[in-house]
Amino acid sequence: MLEVKDLRVTYTSKRGPGVTAVRDVSFDIPDNTFVGLVGESGCGKSTLGFALSRLLDPARNEIHGSVVLDGQDLYKLSDEALRKLRWSKLSLVLQGGMNAFNPVLKIKNQFMDVMREHSDMTKAQMLDRISELLKAVNLNPSVMEAYPHELSGGMKQRAAIALALVLQPRLVILDEPTTALDVVVQRSIVTMLSALQRQLGFSVLFVSHDLGLVLEFADRVMVMYAGQIVEDKPADMLIETAEHPYTKALLKCYADPGAETVTLSGIPGSPPDLGAAIQGCPFAPRCANAFADCRSIPPAPVDRGAGRVACHLYRAEEVARS
Ligand SMILES: Nc1ncnc2c1ncn2[C@@H]1O[C@H](COP(=O)(O)OP(=O)(O)OP(=O)(O)O)[C@@H](O)[C@H]1O
Ligand SMILES: [Mg+2]
Repeated sequence: MLEVKDLRVTYTSKRGPGVTAVRDVSFDIPDNTFVGLVGESGCGKSTLGFALSRLLDPARNEIHGSVVLDGQDLYKLSDEALRKLRWSKLSLVLQGGMNAFNPVLKIKNQFMDVMREHSDMTKAQMLDRISELLKAVNLNPSVMEAYPHELSGGMKQRAAIALALVLQPRLVILDEPTTALDVVVQRSIVTMLSALQRQLGFSVLFVSHDLGLVLEFADRVMVMYAGQIVEDKPADMLIETAEHPYTKALLKCYADPGAETVTLSGIPGSPPDLGAAIQGCPFAPRCANAFADCRSIPPAPVDRGAGRVACHLYRAEEVARS
């Protein structure tokens, strides 16, 4: 349903070299799939989300590669065709999405603005639809009469998810939709989202730095490091056999609450500067398994059963087998 090929995004700057936040990323998202995208702060997750939605200004940023949604290359569409496609095929819930509501409009008017723009529904049909959606995200339909400031953060974020679903898009990209909320509310929102995703059959790209949360709800997980997808696997496979040294290190950052003794380890060092060219594997300077090739040759993704990993350790294994 979504095919991304060799996507590369550079934020250009008059003051110096640009920042290449997404580096030749390729992946597919099939229908009816919950995909998690994880990685530490600054690795390019939000940039990838914006680039998939064609929200980055082409005059100020360099964007290469293709993003094909339902057979249409987003970067070849006219502005008008893109406007039609937004909300109806693809919608986005942003990092601070709950603050994206217009403070002076009632919730129902914000829903109706989108519906009026993209459909021929009557007012009664629109109100029915809003009520149905608010119930679907476990809000009382009376919330439609409220102004955004009258809702809690969690309620606003539920309303933002309902709004993203208003025209039944095929793909919903959610960028850290629950990061600002407490863990109990966070979990109940992701549980609700996952149930809705299965029930309605759309696909989700759920961006988060919380690998634990993502592993629990996603069908598939993509791990991003320094603008690249270093591992892409079904979630259960990733739990059993994480292969990239970065993914393994990330997993060690989580504690099992049931364990008697817990040893947590951080990841020494820091990610590379995305404003500079990267020689070889971007994780090599922090990787305990790195060897000479890792510092000079960029690792291409290697197929690993139902998944892929971009790491020279597995390329060597493949070569030995063939
Ligand atoms: N508008 C911009 N102009 C220049 N550089 C930018 C811009 N937005 C982001 N960047 C840079 O691009 C890189 C990736 O940023 P991005 O926001 O995509 O990361 P992220 O993975 O979403 O991080 P976080 O988890 O903190 O949200 C960072 O180095 C950031 O400084
Ligand atoms: Mg971000």
